[in-house]
Amino acid sequence: MKTHKIETPFEEYTYDELPEADRKLVDTAKDMTRNSYAPYSRFHVGAAILLDNGVIIKGSNQENVAYPSGTCAERTACYQASALHPGVPMRKIAIAAWTNGHFQENPISPCGACRQALAEYEAKYGPIEVILYGEKGIYKLPSVSSLLPFTFTEF
Ligand code: THU
Repeated sequence: MKTHKIETPFEEYTYDELPEADRKLVDTAKDMTRNSYAPYSRFHVGAAILLDNGVIIKGSNQENVAYPSGTCAERTACYQASALHPGVPMRKIAIAAWTNGHFQENPISPCGACRQALAEYEAKYGPIEVILYGEKGIYKLPSVSSLLPFTFTEF
């Protein structure tokens, strides 16, 4: 028997410590919370993806009265990125959430379905850095797979 261990490395930044490109992406994700359609949860999520060609693709969560038909900000953004710019690598994604009149103090992190969706593009086109915004601290992870060990990417 062998025991293995998987570790998840991440860095914590203040907003001012972030490189300018990351600050811009975080600002875009925060702005996008205003475009969220979340009448049911009132949890407004914004996402911004930086493509290899410099374009920033934006997304927000879009809910539906038939709850499972709604989708998260991250999938709105990555499917839009791939639909508009097929084959262009996604380099970074920033995520922010706003509820009860303020941004979340602690970063929120993508749900399992969004991790899987992002992992597909990461497996094809290379690492996507993940930047999770919180008022108290901003977490940066080197890749989606670091959030989704044992990723299923091919059969
Ligand atoms: N949501 C996102 O958009 N992204 C996340 O990372 C977590 C959850 C949305 C889904 C739903 O509209 C609301 O937040 C509450 O779960």
